[in-house]
Amino acid sequence: TTAEKAGYDYFMLKEIFEQPRAYRDTMRGKVKVIGDAKDSGVSQQSGVEIREKIDEEVAERIAKQADVNYGLPAILQVQIEECKLSVEKIQQIEKVHIVACGTAYHAGLIGKSVIESCARIATEVDVASEYRYRSPMITPRTLVIVVSQSGETADTLAALREAKQQGAHVLAITNVVGSSIAREADDIVVTGAGPEIAVASTKAYTTQLIAFFLLGIYFAQLRQTLPQDKITNLVMAVEQLPALAEQLLTTEKTEQLAEIARRIALHHDLFFIGRGVDYAVAQEGSLKLKEISYIHSEAYAAGELKHGTLALIEQGTPVIALMTQPALFDKTMSNIKEVKARGAHVLVIAYDNMAEELAKTADEVFTIPMTEAILSPALSVIPLQLLAYYTALTLGHDIDKPRNLAKSVTVE
Ligand code: G6P
Repeated sequence: TTAEKAGYDYFMLKEIFEQPRAYRDTMRGKVKVIGDAKDSGVSQQSGVEIREKIDEEVAERIAKQADVNYGLPAILQVQIEECKLSVEKIQQIEKVHIVACGTAYHAGLIGKSVIESCARIATEVDVASEYRYRSPMITPRTLVIVVSQSGETADTLAALREAKQQGAHVLAITNVVGSSIAREADDIVVTGAGPEIAVASTKAYTTQLIAFFLLGIYFAQLRQTLPQDKITNLVMAVEQLPALAEQLLTTEKTEQLAEIARRIALHHDLFFIGRGVDYAVAQEGSLKLKEISYIHSEAYAAGELKHGTLALIEQGTPVIALMTQPALFDKTMSNIKEVKARGAHVLVIAYDNMAEELAKTADEVFTIPMTEAILSPALSVIPLQLLAYYTALTLGHDIDKPRNLAKSVTVE
């Protein structure tokens, strides 16, 4: 009914707009404030950085919790009370296998980047329907993380059982506490998305990202793979994501995307490109568009285009390029020039401070607020969700119930 949709035309749009709230609910109780940085050996240098970055609302809460003066740099850490893995066991993890289906698999791709870059644990990601049949090398020191919104996906559940049987510790990131996956896993981290009705997953995906950010930082803390000032900065940046996500949901922003979507709706093929986590987000953006608009698209690692797919670029082919990784900016820029030279119409998604530079090459720029490079997916995916939504809306599809798809797939 309309009432359940709280005035939105579709659940999907409602759920996109719920993301800032869902981020907050996923983080709730998982950030620990230790106290004033001055007493804890954090350099003054990093203290200044923190003060400059601090969001007022976050600062006030931290000050209250830690009983420190407003704006004073505090030490922040992650605590995951529901995680039963002992400190010793976390320190002994040899490798991580992330296993999931669909959108949850795409969240796993980001999870790999976070765990490898923060906690320095070698991580592999598999789609659940492939995992069991490739003779995965599981040892008692393997942590298997299964990711599932519903907690009922048959392939993911079967992978969980197989991993447990082979002696792995299985941690589930799930949105449904009483689900089969939640019950059978050794450990769970619950996402605070709340019920997700639309078949195309939005807030479940982004809260899975938040769960991975927190887990990655938590492991880094316990394995001492990042210095405390870096951890404080990262936690602070995670805390600011809800407020930054809100900036992407203004009328001005959504109207810009609705306008672009009306043009995308005229095409039969498009490409999403990016490097690193941007490539993983590109895959999710492409899936979203396919699921509800039925327009064919492909996500490509930007640097791989020239090894084949470039042949498909014609005059006017839309290319959506994600460019949130400062270290990869120049490399992706040359890929944008490659597709431009073949006639592509390029939309770039990048930080505000890059807009001017990008406007010289791209046909269009959609800006997102700046955050730590590794956390950018929680922001950059939002315009892609909205693009998929407005494209499907333009085409008049039943957005919440796309043809041939089910919210939860309980057959293998
Ligand atoms: C179905 C849904 C997808 C979802 C996938 C995994 O295919 O249509 O949106 O990503 O299942 O679901 P899960 O509940 O395990 O996250």
